[in-house]
Amino acid sequence: MKHKAFIFDLDGVIVDTAKFHYLAWKSLANSIGIDFTEAQNEQLKGVSRVKSLEKILTWGNKTLTDDEFMELMSRKNEDYLEYVNRMTKDDILPDVDRVLDFLIENNCKIALGSASKNARMILRKVELINKFETIVDGTNVTKAKPDPEVFLKAAEQLNVNPEDCVVFEDSVSGVQAANIGNMISVGIGEKAFLHEAKYIFKDFTEISFDFLKDL
Ligand code: BG6
Ligand code: MG
Repeated sequence: MKHKAFIFDLDGVIVDTAKFHYLAWKSLANSIGIDFTEAQNEQLKGVSRVKSLEKILTWGNKTLTDDEFMELMSRKNEDYLEYVNRMTKDDILPDVDRVLDFLIENNCKIALGSASKNARMILRKVELINKFETIVDGTNVTKAKPDPEVFLKAAEQLNVNPEDCVVFEDSVSGVQAANIGNMISVGIGEKAFLHEAKYIFKDFTEISFDFLKDL
């Protein structure tokens, strides 16, 4: 393995929480009379909670007071956490364990790079928190993806150069962040959305040990 460090996004890469974010945003948007499509949802992947609500309000042509805005943000998160609270380690996406364990056995450094403020809690719930040497999440960054801050911080904490990092991402903004940060981007999901990634796989079941070794 030429690359020394592997940075994983969380939502939609390690666990299927992307669909919970979608359901929670959809019901929130609909409750204030705004339509919300899956294509719009694609634009929210990797985007912080505040920015996501701002985008939804722009699409719906709606303005709110600061108090109303805060109220909706917490309502969305409460709704989202109801789904998350039911999660167990069975909700880890297929073959994520296999890939993580292979990388760890081969002495690679593993980090999490997520926009979510719920990241640590989710990793604890699915019993993966101990596999990560460092975690950079929505509580540690000021600039949202596609800004590479989250990944650059992870590289710095792992003490490796950005060029020596590989990033696994399911969002367009996350793939862009990895590319801007001079890291190797591996898109997890649909080619139609993730074509800017250096490599694209539908999920981790398609990622072979040979591919990882050659990286
Ligand atoms: C990202 C998700 O990982 O985290 C986004 O892709 C989400 O959909 C963002 O909005 C922030 O997450 P949270 O859990 O702090 O609301
Ligand atoms: Mg994601």
